[in-house]
Amino acid sequence: MRISGTHYRTIWSTDSGAVRVIDQSRLPFELVTLDLETVADAAHAIRTMVVRGAPLIGATAAYGIALAARADPCDSHLAEAARTLQATRPTAVNLAWALRRMHNVLAELEPHRRADAAWHEAAAICDADVEQCRSIGRHGLDVMRALAAKAGARLNILTHCNAGWLACVDWGTALAPVYMAHDAGIPVHVWVDETRPRNQGAALTAFELGAHGVPHTVVADNLGGHLMQRGQVDMVIVGSDRTTAAGEVCNKVGTYLKALAAHDNGVPFYAALPLSTIDWSLEAGEAIPIEERSPQEVTHITGRSAAGRIETVRLVPESSPALNLAFDVTPARLVTGLITERGVCAASRAGLQRLYPDQPAAVE
Ligand code: MRU
Repeated sequence: MRISGTHYRTIWSTDSGAVRVIDQSRLPFELVTLDLETVADAAHAIRTMVVRGAPLIGATAAYGIALAARADPCDSHLAEAARTLQATRPTAVNLAWALRRMHNVLAELEPHRRADAAWHEAAAICDADVEQCRSIGRHGLDVMRALAAKAGARLNILTHCNAGWLACVDWGTALAPVYMAHDAGIPVHVWVDETRPRNQGAALTAFELGAHGVPHTVVADNLGGHLMQRGQVDMVIVGSDRTTAAGEVCNKVGTYLKALAAHDNGVPFYAALPLSTIDWSLEAGEAIPIEERSPQEVTHITGRSAAGRIETVRLVPESSPALNLAFDVTPARLVTGLITERGVCAASRAGLQRLYPDQPAAVE
């Protein structure tokens, strides 16, 4: 996507052989990049959310394996690298998916051929992600076009967290159709949930939409239900970190509450996701591991002071404990449809199997 006329992806390889990423911990205030030189750098970037969003976590892990293969392509080193990367964040299944894909390619090869192949495969994963997101955008655009025909003067879309190009390699999942609708002249307006505790909506989604010129308004996470009751939301669209074979959608915590409110108010609720986000081994959403992050993300908040300094301040009494579970699961019955690179389907086993007849049936 373009920022001030320059085209960016979130991750790319440099001529000097590093992996360069946009440091998302500095957005929206500073647009800076960071070079990853080792697998430890890649793991650190994922763990600390320099990079985040399910597809980008997978892409970074793939490049992490490429960096490991360049340092030492032997089996034990690559296995250790995969373990290190897998341990960074538990919920987004794109991480395991990317590591499995890298393993499947590299295990076939003599060690001396692995570094080049790994680099090539990581780049292929990134390119495929861009095309999948573009395709999700086209299918989501059809949905938005139909809803816009029924909406009033503008199509009001509510989204939670950041499932835009910053969460992927380019385009995004939930936001790809928004960009395409805007570019096609459909008058879209996005309600951006701030998405406490880390504020990916306020910081990242608002940054993206603003850079693309999409009209949007940041709202407190708790406002969505009230906006829906007032008829000010025409659709909800979110991304996903893991969707089960039965169509249960795990996404940033708070997504479930939006789905409940949408259901109660007859507002269509869509999740947009690529194949790499579907966990064919699970049916039940309760089986998805939910990441527990530092309580400090709840007790504190970071922003820019009037003096221009990035500062972190405490919100909560010193003696009060906090709990920080980062994701929740929206049951399939609350999901109007899944928007994938292969089309739109019901959030159900039958719906997914219709689009992905080539994938294994779930076993639990
Ligand atoms: O904790 P994050 O910022 O990695 O969470 C991101 C989300 O929840 C996104 O909605 C999800 O990864 C889908 S990204 C296309």
